[in-house]
Amino acid sequence: MGLQGSNKTGDEVASKSVAQEKDKPQTVNIRRMVPEDYDASYALWSRTPGMHLHSLNNTYGGISEVILHNPDSSFVAFDESGGIVGTAIGATDGRKGYIYHLAVDEHFRGHGIGTRLVARIRDVLQAKGIEKIGVFIVNDNIQGQQFWGAQGWNPRSDVTYWDIDL
Ligand SMILES: CC(C)(COP(=O)(O)OP(=O)(O)OC[C@H]1O[C@@H](n2cnc3c(N)ncnc32)[C@H](O)[C@@H]1OP(=O)(O)O)[C@@H](O)C(=O)NCCC(=O)NCCS
Repeated sequence: MGLQGSNKTGDEVASKSVAQEKDKPQTVNIRRMVPEDYDASYALWSRTPGMHLHSLNNTYGGISEVILHNPDSSFVAFDESGGIVGTAIGATDGRKGYIYHLAVDEHFRGHGIGTRLVARIRDVLQAKGIEKIGVFIVNDNIQGQQFWGAQGWNPRSDVTYWDIDL
């Protein structure tokens, strides 16, 4: 997977070459997400089906709050030009962990970037003592469910998710 270690900030310093269009190799790195990544991240989410951006507060303020509460468990993947090609927000309330906004640009899919983003979050949350992580997947996102199934995650058939707007 091309990981070679971490720097002082805990960011991944190694990379992986990813075949992009026309087989031109692209090196993709992963680093922590910061609020300044919002515009590029939102652009990725907007062009990615299945993100359901209307369902939560996905404004700059809303996303910044999540990142600032979870500064070491939210990540972006970026290409050689610094463009954001993947995101994953890992959050915890101190008891359980959650992953939000996992997305990989369609030109970069199938090269393990999603797996790497999830692994980074898992490592950070596990180190904090979190023993369970959940993810919300809408029922018609079959591709997303296949991804999580391939990661070894299991659907819960004994619960349904309910919410209310405040
Ligand atoms: C889900 C997503 C993040 C996967 O990113 P990715 O970088 O392509 O994932 P990986 O390359 O790490 O794939 C890991 C494994 O997941 C499975 N997988 C990934 N995409 C898949 C797809 N479209 N169909 C079936 N299986 C898939 C495969 O088993 C794959 O392993 P393999 O390449 O050895 O076969 C990406 O497809 C995406 O952004 N989808 C749209 C947004 C979304 O649905 N997010 C999840 C909602 S919570």
